[in-house]
Amino acid sequence: MHQLEEILSHYGVEGTVEGEGKGPLIKQIRFKPKPGTKIKNITSSVEDIAREMGVKTLRISNVCEGGCIGFEIANDTFQTVPLQDVLESEQAKTAKGALPISLGVKIDGTPVFADLAKMPHLLVAGATGSGKSVGLNAFIISLIKRKKPNELKFVMIDPKRIEFSVYNDQKYMLMPVITDNSDASEALQFLVDEMNKRYEKLEKSLTKNIEEYNEKEGGMPYIVAIVDEFSDLVLSDKTVEKKIQILAQKARAAGIHLVLATQRPSVDVVTGSIKANFPSRMAFKTASGVDSKTILDTTGAEDLVGRGDALFLAGNGELSRIHGAYISTEGIEEILKPYRAKVAPVLTKKALETEEKNAVATNGKKAEKKKEFFLLSWIKGVWGWLSKTEKKKFLKMIWLLLIGAFVGSKTQNKSGQIFDSIADNLTKTKRRTYTTTTRRKTTSRRRY
Ligand SMILES: Nc1ncnc2c1ncn2[C@@H]1O[C@H](COP(=O)(O)OP(=O)(O)OP(=O)(O)O)[C@@H](O)[C@H]1O
Ligand SMILES: [Mg+2]
Repeated sequence: MHQLEEILSHYGVEGTVEGEGKGPLIKQIRFKPKPGTKIKNITSSVEDIAREMGVKTLRISNVCEGGCIGFEIANDTFQTVPLQDVLESEQAKTAKGALPISLGVKIDGTPVFADLAKMPHLLVAGATGSGKSVGLNAFIISLIKRKKPNELKFVMIDPKRIEFSVYNDQKYMLMPVITDNSDASEALQFLVDEMNKRYEKLEKSLTKNIEEYNEKEGGMPYIVAIVDEFSDLVLSDKTVEKKIQILAQKARAAGIHLVLATQRPSVDVVTGSIKANFPSRMAFKTASGVDSKTILDTTGAEDLVGRGDALFLAGNGELSRIHGAYISTEGIEEILKPYRAKVAPVLTKKALETEEKNAVATNGKKAEKKKEFFLLSWIKGVWGWLSKTEKKKFLKMIWLLLIGAFVGSKTQNKSGQIFDSIADNLTKTKRRTYTTTTRRKTTSRRRY
């Protein structure tokens, strides 16, 4: 008798073990219960069954091959699934759809692909270190391997600043990686505007979606927007949720798809409206059963083993266990090497800010130059207006003032006398200047 059959019999559950399968992270024992057995009897005693089996984590999958119940136990040692192997597999070559992404491998190690274009958006959650970023990298790289840069563009939002920096400066990027929350909100608005522009194009060309449009006109790349940690974004800016909602509801036909990830799957972040618009969801190991319920509407993700172990909820409600494939940053760099290129910022606010700064700097310089110019032309004008003798007197006066200032700084007494004579000179000059001016005015009047 199998150990599991014996243990289950202690809880009044009768049946037979049909087989076992071992994958990179877990072992699955397939148990076929006798007709009439209530799964509830098993699920309510999971912790005791795990204790009796001598395992730390035990997950029960309600349905597996041949109407069995799957008992999933973590392996003693975990194997890493290289993304390269998954991408070279037969399943990768035959993966259908416009945007097939690698989810990883099934419990038995078979690669799994799903079409992001059909999902049409994906919500990813999991505790810190559970494998979200590695998973997102696997999605991105599997798409890059499949599509050319003119067929697919990414918008990446990375408030943590380190997860996506490797993707900067390459042809697949629609704009540089966004690390600032306000820029992220603007990027989402940019996508909403782009979606509206695309709808106008579809309307004009009498097509219903991006596939039809590309067949008829061509030149409309898919856009995949990936947000690694959207909780701060949603909480800090009230408009973000609305923009996500608009995109999630309408962007599919325009070829724009969202992948949102968070380590905080609380109800204020993964809100009802977000959940309603994201039927496809992926939960890596969560901190609690409550978090698992928030993201998947069922517990279970808290019992995953980490390191990319995940539960994928397909749009049709099917739940399957998947192990994410791994790719290192060096591996990503190697794949991106042929596509390196500078990417210009397209966010209008940023571009405008830079323009404004430049404009302010140039205007400031212009104003200073204007001031200088005005003073010089005024002096020039006055100088031209003076007669030859007046010019001489003026220069003499300046000369005396300079000598006076110099001598005054040496001897105070003498300077007094010198300044008296200067004052005398000044009054004479003023009087004469005045007389000259009046005389000129009378002359000019007479001329008229
Ligand atoms: N699929 C995988 N295969 C093997 N190891 C993995 C896998 N996924 C994650 N890991 C290991 O777990 C570590 C943490 O993964 P990752 O950075 O993806 O976590 P995270 O969920 O993004 O965490 P955080 O929320 O803190 O950003 C990785 O550096 C790697 O060592
Ligand atoms: Mg991460």
